[in-house]
Amino acid sequence: MPELLPYTEAGAGVPLLLVHGFPHDRRLWQPQLEGLGHSAHVIAPDLRGFGKAPAAPVDITLEDHAADLKALLDHRGIARAVICGLSMGGYIALAFVARYPAMVRKLILCSTKAGADTAEAKEGRMAMAQRIRHEGVAPLAEAMLPKMLSPSTRTERPEVAASVRTMMATQDPQGLIAALHAMAARQDRTAMLASIIAPTRIIAGSADKVIPRSEGEAMAKAIPRSDLIMIPDAGHLPNVDAPAAFNGAVRGFLAGMK
Ligand code: MLT
Repeated sequence: MPELLPYTEAGAGVPLLLVHGFPHDRRLWQPQLEGLGHSAHVIAPDLRGFGKAPAAPVDITLEDHAADLKALLDHRGIARAVICGLSMGGYIALAFVARYPAMVRKLILCSTKAGADTAEAKEGRMAMAQRIRHEGVAPLAEAMLPKMLSPSTRTERPEVAASVRTMMATQDPQGLIAALHAMAARQDRTAMLASIIAPTRIIAGSADKVIPRSEGEAMAKAIPRSDLIMIPDAGHLPNVDAPAAFNGAVRGFLAGMK
């Protein structure tokens, strides 16, 4: 059964649903909640198992997360929205568009990819889950920080780096373990890209160390009505590394929508 997710919202206008990645929660979208409220009705939930959301069962799937998002839109009386997913949030956005295509007015895929995990990637996730069981979440947060943000954010805006570190370090270990299993089991969505009818904007950081820019370039080739905005020098979280550029890319994509 879908769960009603906690969320933060800002602004008015076209509904824009922001789906966070791993191991994040809705705090990831603070620069968008602050910067996009004049252009859209921004809605940022915590996914099940993250932030203040209900705990996730160990066998939760990305399709379950997509069903939770649909339940949230239903609850808010929103029939169609712009769906924006970052990284794991992008995997979930692709599951959402596969299952509920009529609810997607436009799609934004950020720092993400369509393919499934390789055997090696799955092993890496199981090793990470084991590490979380033994050591907790804090060491993982410390190790992941350099992969998330650009060097300039980390040195010139230490308070931003600290808040991303805190967001990651305060996640529920069981939620992260469930998400690792869900990502390892996710479907390959490559074949469905050609059938996406929603106008799609792909946003990537040119210096992303988690998901290479080539993945964004490949999706832009495969999705019919798509374009690609590459944000220079941004890492895996371009919405945090370069909020003005990211928000500008979203604002431009929403321009003219009512
Ligand atoms: C994320 O940022 O959501 C994750 O790095 C995605 C992944 O591990 O595949």
